[in-house]
Amino acid sequence: MLAIDGGPPSVDSAPFQWPFANEAIRNAVSEAMSDGSWGQYDGRWTRDLIELLKQNFQSKEAMLCSSGTIAVELALRGAGVQADSEVILAGYDFPGNFRAIEAIGARPVLVDVVPNGWVLSAEQLAVALTPQTSAVIVSHLHGQIADLEQIQAVIRDHNLSVEQQVILVEDACQVPGGKLHGKPLGSWCDVSALSFGGSKLLSAGRGGAILTDRSDILQRAKIFAQRGNDAFPMCQLQAATLCPQFDTLPEMTEVRHQNATQLIESISSLDELVGLRQIVDGATPAYYKVPWLLKDRTPGWSRSELVSALKAEGLPIGEGFRGFLRRSPRRCRKTGTLVNCQIASQQTIVLHHPVLLEPEDTLKLVANAIHKVVTNSR
Ligand SMILES: Cc1ncc(COP(=O)(O)O)c(C=O)c1O
Repeated sequence: MLAIDGGPPSVDSAPFQWPFANEAIRNAVSEAMSDGSWGQYDGRWTRDLIELLKQNFQSKEAMLCSSGTIAVELALRGAGVQADSEVILAGYDFPGNFRAIEAIGARPVLVDVVPNGWVLSAEQLAVALTPQTSAVIVSHLHGQIADLEQIQAVIRDHNLSVEQQVILVEDACQVPGGKLHGKPLGSWCDVSALSFGGSKLLSAGRGGAILTDRSDILQRAKIFAQRGNDAFPMCQLQAATLCPQFDTLPEMTEVRHQNATQLIESISSLDELVGLRQIVDGATPAYYKVPWLLKDRTPGWSRSELVSALKAEGLPIGEGFRGFLRRSPRRCRKTGTLVNCQIASQQTIVLHHPVLLEPEDTLKLVANAIHKVVTNSR
């Protein structure tokens, strides 16, 4: 019997705890407390973190801030996006990205995502660019890596024929540790955004950063944030918790990658779900969520019912983003049919990453629970 109908849950959800604290993190916090650095406005931990970010993301410049949400806005501000210009993003994306564009007074332009996927389509981008476009936000979402090379090629072509050069902003909030052709995600575009929120793969509870090779972008972002004091600061204790996480990130990324691949494979026999497919070769993804799309024929379950039933089985699972399709035309310009965004918005379910660090036995229980619930006709 399904747990939602009174049966026992398939998985004991207790192990899925995040964020984690290992000894190195505890030591860093305790050191910050005992040497007094925890109470400083600027100190060794934020300085160390900036260096670690530059090294790990092969970036010339890094700036810390208070969240990934503001990091995206700072990236756009740094890019010099002006009010009344257009900023392109996928019609399925993190809600704050739309708001960041609006906060500047620019106009969001929605572009479709790839078929059966979650990331900006390079083909659709080519159609949406205009002389008014000032920037494009490209997010890697749910373990799917955007086709950065294709997107860069489209922007390069466009920039040859316009006065206003389009800046590419990479939203790498979900993918620290991920790579494309061995080059870190977050290092591919003019400027990128990272999040250190409580659920993220690098976590300080809150926090974010921007990365760029361009000193002019960094300078503009800093000037915007500086109001006699840093308006979006990260404190020393947050930075102290983050510094040791760079030692464990590569191994954790690898384990999550292996386990996600296995999980996706073991669910692939189910007709009711469409699993993640990378659209680029050479991607080493980082998994913040593992996504599936529900096919229409999922018997008798609505998405919210299915999610409730999976949660009852003990799985940390939820719905994807709502997407921007319903945003009024007064607030944005929509290009093309956005049919893939509609599918992503209405049919995505996502499994939260802590599961991916569990032992093989637990992962089997997770796969079995998904099989059991999805194939159970209502
Ligand atoms: C793709 C993406 N961008 C930006 C953010 C915002 O990060 P934060 O929660 O740190 O504000 C998130 C958070 O989930 C995200 O998934």
